[in-house]
Amino acid sequence: MEISANTQALAYLVSAILFIFALKGLTHPSSARRGNYYGIAGMAIAVGATLLGSEVQSYGFIIAGVIAGAVIGSVLAAKVQMTAMPQLVAALHSFVGMSAVLVALGTYMNKAQAGLLNPVLMGELSAGIVIGAITFSGSVIAFGKLQGVISGAPVIFKGQHLLNALLAALTVALAVYFGLTESVWALVLMTILAFVLGFTLIIPIGGADMPVIISMLNSYSGWAATATGFTLGNNLLIIVGALVGFSGAILSYIMCRAMNRSIINVVFGGFGGGGSEASTSAVAQAAEKGVKAASVEDAIYWMEDANRVIIVPGYGMAVAQAQHALKELLELLEKRGVEVKFAIHPVAGRMPGHMNVLLAEADIPYDHVLEMDEINPEFATTDVALVVGANDVTNPAAKTDPSSPIYGMPILDVAKAHNVYVIKRSMRPGYSGVENLLYYQDNCSLIFGDAKDVCEGMVTALKGGGH
Ligand code: TAP
Repeated sequence: MEISANTQALAYLVSAILFIFALKGLTHPSSARRGNYYGIAGMAIAVGATLLGSEVQSYGFIIAGVIAGAVIGSVLAAKVQMTAMPQLVAALHSFVGMSAVLVALGTYMNKAQAGLLNPVLMGELSAGIVIGAITFSGSVIAFGKLQGVISGAPVIFKGQHLLNALLAALTVALAVYFGLTESVWALVLMTILAFVLGFTLIIPIGGADMPVIISMLNSYSGWAATATGFTLGNNLLIIVGALVGFSGAILSYIMCRAMNRSIINVVFGGFGGGGSEASTSAVAQAAEKGVKAASVEDAIYWMEDANRVIIVPGYGMAVAQAQHALKELLELLEKRGVEVKFAIHPVAGRMPGHMNVLLAEADIPYDHVLEMDEINPEFATTDVALVVGANDVTNPAAKTDPSSPIYGMPILDVAKAHNVYVIKRSMRPGYSGVENLLYYQDNCSLIFGDAKDVCEGMVTALKGGGH
């Protein structure tokens, strides 16, 4: 069965509308599931309409590709841990980038053979190759950093910005030369330089800025898809690419604001490394005061008679899968008349919305979950802040120590609560590798242990009647 171009255009229009609804749905946890269904429906229609279009000449390779992709995708989706999701996203972006490069090269070969090259097409091909290649190698580096295959520390070297500027200028010059002369050598050299540029752009970026980079690469992968859409004359790919490109760019901007970073600094800088001299001395001063260790019973003693408890989840909650125990803790405390709220930092965990997804999975009501700006004024009048595997997002050094690498990043004002209990397994620092000054404050105690075990211990203690 083959459908007409008009029917295909109509199907693409329906898909595009469904994708817009999908994005809208994904803006809130309560509508995210519905958003996903819209996205699935949109994609099913898009793939169906493409396969039934007149451009498809044979199905052999397509079916083989679909089967291989479906098997690999299903195994990955079933196996991947929530904590490894950012790496997976980075890997998927690299596929989009490489597809854009391959489609552009394939189109060039076909059209060159048929003598159908023209300046507009060559401009589209160059855009697809350059953006696709940068997305590919940049995403491979991001994957390596997040997976721990390569160090997450920023790799900064002298003349780095000059090198990037030179590479970018040369790539553009080669694209122009290719457009004017149809030279294969210019095309090959441009492709190689774009791959190198993706590498040199991402390698200097440190772990703490990785979330922004992932969303920037998401945006690039959208633009690569748009360029491919122009090359193939596929309107849906142009629309979807633009949706991904813009939404990724907007998310990057929002995240930069949340971390008090300028987007230019993130893209060209090298933040997120270890502490500097002055911050080491601040830590040394704090260390002299010592760190207090506490037991589950100590924390329960203050929590069960509290007016308000704020729970601050972080990456450690995700690792330990402690969200279900926290739901039970919430119910037991509420039964005793304690007001319980959850405080979410925009970059807590390892991906945007990480904490929201896990808390939703445990059926913690949305009205108990507050964003940083809403909850911060409440810490000063809160009896107990219970920090569950969060670290960087609570570090007062971000406010008080101008020499700290995380200085300027907005944090949750946990330090202002009357009592602070932090659940973690050791004195190891968080993702950015910076020591947390919170732990040395008088009102703060650490409960050492796995977050799930400790939270379950709290539940048992409360069920047993507390103190
Ligand atoms: P982190 O600063 O990474 O701290 C996580 C804490 O959890 C550590 O102190 C760790 O200490 C503890 N932990 C790990 N496993 C645990 C377990 N099983 N039980 C109890 N504690 C455990 O986390 P955060 O406060 O959520 O901050 C996020 C950081 O990641 C930021 O620096 C952010 O920039 C970065 N980042 C964020 C994203 C996004 S988009 N959210 C993406 C990439 C990177 P122990 O090892 O001592 O237990």
